[in-house]
Amino acid sequence: MLYIGVDLGTSAVKLLLMDEKGAIRNIVSKEYPVDYPYPGWSQQDPEDWWDAIRAGIPELIAGVDASEVRGIGCAGQMHGLVVLDEDDHVIRPCILWNDGRSEEQVHYLNDVVGRDRVSAWTANIAFAGFTAPKILWMRDNEPELFSRIDKVMLPKDYVNRRLTGTFTTDFSDASGMLLLDVEHRRWSQEMLDLCGITESQLPELHESADAVGTLLPEVARELGLPADVIVCAGAGDNAAAAVGCGAVGDGRCNISLGTSGTIFITSDTFRAGGGNALHSFDHADGGYHLMGCILSAASCNRWWCEDVLGTDDYAGAVGGVDVAAVDPSLAYFLPYLMGERSPHNDPSARGAFVGLRLDTTRQEMGRSVLEGVSFAFRDCLDIARAQGVEVSRSTVCGGGARSELWLEMLATILDVTLELPQTEQGPGYGAAMLVAVACGDFDSVAGCSRSLVRVRGEVAPRADLADAYARRHETWHGLYPALKGSFERMVDR
Ligand code: XUL
Repeated sequence: MLYIGVDLGTSAVKLLLMDEKGAIRNIVSKEYPVDYPYPGWSQQDPEDWWDAIRAGIPELIAGVDASEVRGIGCAGQMHGLVVLDEDDHVIRPCILWNDGRSEEQVHYLNDVVGRDRVSAWTANIAFAGFTAPKILWMRDNEPELFSRIDKVMLPKDYVNRRLTGTFTTDFSDASGMLLLDVEHRRWSQEMLDLCGITESQLPELHESADAVGTLLPEVARELGLPADVIVCAGAGDNAAAAVGCGAVGDGRCNISLGTSGTIFITSDTFRAGGGNALHSFDHADGGYHLMGCILSAASCNRWWCEDVLGTDDYAGAVGGVDVAAVDPSLAYFLPYLMGERSPHNDPSARGAFVGLRLDTTRQEMGRSVLEGVSFAFRDCLDIARAQGVEVSRSTVCGGGARSELWLEMLATILDVTLELPQTEQGPGYGAAMLVAVACGDFDSVAGCSRSLVRVRGEVAPRADLADAYARRHETWHGLYPALKGSFERMVDR
């Protein structure tokens, strides 16, 4: 029995073929562009996702008996606004999770409507990346396009619609729309009214491992798959990654070091994030989670190495750095290249190197990039800890988890032992598990995750470096407040 896990990411879709024992039989990745029409804006053509998937699946299953494929599960980049007209045509490019254009609408929701009310309705406050402020942005800035909206959906729901013709979503991903009453798992009528949309324009809500349909006959033919292949509701990429790394049930943590950086803390019971600085969302296992999201994580390192240094030798970019020399005089880096979500909620924030000297080296700057991202994670974890949430161990996934130096730094800065699952393909692996459950081949999401996920090693915090990093964190922590006013003046209004 085989299952396809789709990880619909920001720069590429990664397709993974998993068997019933959890072995990964093949991985295919297809890239697509992101359009940045103005500083701080980011959008993508949903047709590119679909083209990548229909080119990738036949490659993924080449050489296997296609009749063994039982299902497809999709994990998607969260919060993206996909809007279709009544003929099912995409009305405008999808506005992505790291797009900061809706600052005015966020201000309206949080300060005019009021944080307390929005939080009472949804368990969250507005952030620029969330879907509801983007709907309001369309209403305010593209009224003609807004009037043509027949359906509002999230990126992976668009893929599921192309696969099956159904119009569904799941609770974990829907949580990030700011339209869902997260605690009670239903749409918030108050938020729908505020955004000028009705429930009939929104997808049907499901648990992530619900089977929502089978392939449309013409799609099955094109992909070379049987028409009875089951598609499940799927999940937001972070919830799917948590499942794929074994962070299910109560009190578990998963960290994703991908384009974005997230820290995902599970719980059986609902709780709102401290002052709403952390997101309070539904989990794909039927429970809940708190999540901090930093908008630029591994993307800071990619930017530094590939765009600035012009190299894809990531290890070389920090080669020769003495990991034990954690000196207060080394350079500092603020990772806010696309503004910041958690905890600052500030689309105007920018990246910065601070503390450069004539003897600062390229490697030292590379080191400060990894450290600055790790400190941003620490900011999120501190909020959870202040709420009494204990985290001493976490799994870690995403491309950044390939760097030993980064893992050691992160473990020490967070004072958390990092566990390395056998695969770093968290979202795709979790999505394949979700559909294995939907096919009835496992009893529950938690059960499936516990039986398939294996840990291959761990990285412990370096006690000898803890104080030195704590001192550097204190200095770093003062930089954003000091620069905030300057960042605001850099925005072209
Ligand atoms: C989470 C978030 C990102 C995207 C990345 O809130 O915005 O992690 O899901 O794909």
